[in-house]
Amino acid sequence: PTIFVITPTYARLVQKAELTRLSQTFLHVPQLHWIVVEDSPHKTPLVTDFLMKSGLTYTHLHVPTAKDRKLQEDDPSWLKPRGVEQRNEGLRWLREDRRPQPGEGRQRGVVYFADDDNTYSLQIFEEVVRFHTGWRPSRPFPMDMAGFAVSLKLVLANPDACFDGEAPMGFLESSFLKGLVTMDELEPKADNCSKVLVWHTRTEKPKMKREEALQAQGLGSDPTVEV
Ligand code: UGA
Ligand code: MN
Repeated sequence: PTIFVITPTYARLVQKAELTRLSQTFLHVPQLHWIVVEDSPHKTPLVTDFLMKSGLTYTHLHVPTAKDRKLQEDDPSWLKPRGVEQRNEGLRWLREDRRPQPGEGRQRGVVYFADDDNTYSLQIFEEVVRFHTGWRPSRPFPMDMAGFAVSLKLVLANPDACFDGEAPMGFLESSFLKGLVTMDELEPKADNCSKVLVWHTRTEKPKMKREEALQAQGLGSDPTVEV
């Protein structure tokens, strides 16, 4: 069955680095269909071109985060959930594309949510991982976005299940999963959850002070270089 990977992404200096790392992992996975959803009012040339050259099977979508929902430059990263509208757009596309139709196996598959900045072990694509957590274990589903996958059939059978951008901090995953499963229906993977197969990585933000100073003097880098 196909593994559908839904990835929200947004324009910033490190975007291409993140997408490069991710795509080069995914190239090793057979039958992976990458659903890339840009947080943008339009598809950007950078992502369009990147996907075209990626060698992956993909679907390119976009939806901007509503302005009042969007994290501002100086906000702490935990203030608002990120990638909500984008993941929901990916789900919307899947439900539309895989609606009941003649065609064997079109509803078979697995759905996984992969943020663009994490680091994924290839082994995770042979698994469905559950997380042990010390943080708010009382949540209905105390796990991270990268810590579960769900069957496509389940997603299609529960058309209303989606991510709630208004969910309190840490409850985003629960807002989606509670529309699909109960805790005891989950199947622990990765040697009964004894292995770590995905890492929250954050790419350092490039220092642009010098470049900005040079630009102010009209001596900046070649503006036609794509970053
Ligand atoms: C953590 C979790 O790993 C996320 O799964 C969860 O959505 C997020 O917290 C949350 O609470 O909302 P974190 O590393 O803090 O993630 O967030 P980011 O990696 O910055 O963003 C998650 C995804 O949303 C990424 O794929 C990112 O590209 C995307 N994003 C971020 C946007 O599409 N637009 C933005 O303005 C910011
Ligand atoms: Mn992240």
